[in-house]
Amino acid sequence: MNSVADAIQSRMSVRAFTKEPVSKEQILKILNLSARAPSGTNTQPWKAYVLEGAKLEGLCKQVCDAYDSIAANPELEKEYQPGYDYYPSKWFSPYIDRRRENGWSLYGLLGITKGDKDKMHAQHRKNFQFFGAPVGIFFTIDKELGRGSMLDYGMFLQNFMVAAKGEGLDTCPQAAWNAYTKIILPFIGAQDHEMLVCGMALGYADKQEIVNTFRTPRVTAEEFTTWLA
Ligand SMILES: Cc1cc2nc3c(=O)[nH]c(=O)nc-3n(C[C@H](O)[C@H](O)[C@H](O)COP(=O)(O)O)c2cc1C
Repeated sequence: MNSVADAIQSRMSVRAFTKEPVSKEQILKILNLSARAPSGTNTQPWKAYVLEGAKLEGLCKQVCDAYDSIAANPELEKEYQPGYDYYPSKWFSPYIDRRRENGWSLYGLLGITKGDKDKMHAQHRKNFQFFGAPVGIFFTIDKELGRGSMLDYGMFLQNFMVAAKGEGLDTCPQAAWNAYTKIILPFIGAQDHEMLVCGMALGYADKQEIVNTFRTPRVTAEEFTTWLA
């Protein structure tokens, strides 16, 4: 039994949670384990804001309202801009193909077909309720740091998701929140020099929900590796 491999293999993006609470001790334990991530010259660029209860509900309501207002008036979309580009402005192969496959496989599982705008809206909106998780976390970084610090951040976030598995918990990393940075950053009390990296849903997976049966494929190492000798 290889516990590291098992922990890595068992991590997946969970998109439906039970209301079972998560203790502050557990959250701190996961965050402290996450902080064992390496970072260039040990700069440790991470900062976390944990939302629960009324604060979580209040924030979710504000962002859901904004999301709904954009659906009603698409002109408003340009008012909500992320702090950094996660995705390319122009998609290309093979990434666009993987992205499409991922999206349509998930929607297919949920019975959502092309053109079913209301159902798509409702499914995407669940992002802004942390998929029902009792804990929502926002991670920020100092904007003045270099691109390398985002590498460090990725390692920290993977640690977070794997460490959560060690506590019997599940996660969903969420870039969907990033567009709503102008609502989120003041709400959490972030300072001017902070940028939103992503959100993270944390809780116990609802095993009854079909969405959590979704498993994503991977390109194998044989395909993405070049051997030179
Ligand atoms: C930084 C980051 C942001 C993501 N943002 C979202 C998101 O906003 N909503 C969502 O449902 N999934 C999000 N995902 C999950 C990806 O879709 C998922 O990791 C990918 O499809 C692979 O599936 P797996 O996590 O189950 O292995 C995000 C993943 C990462 C790493």
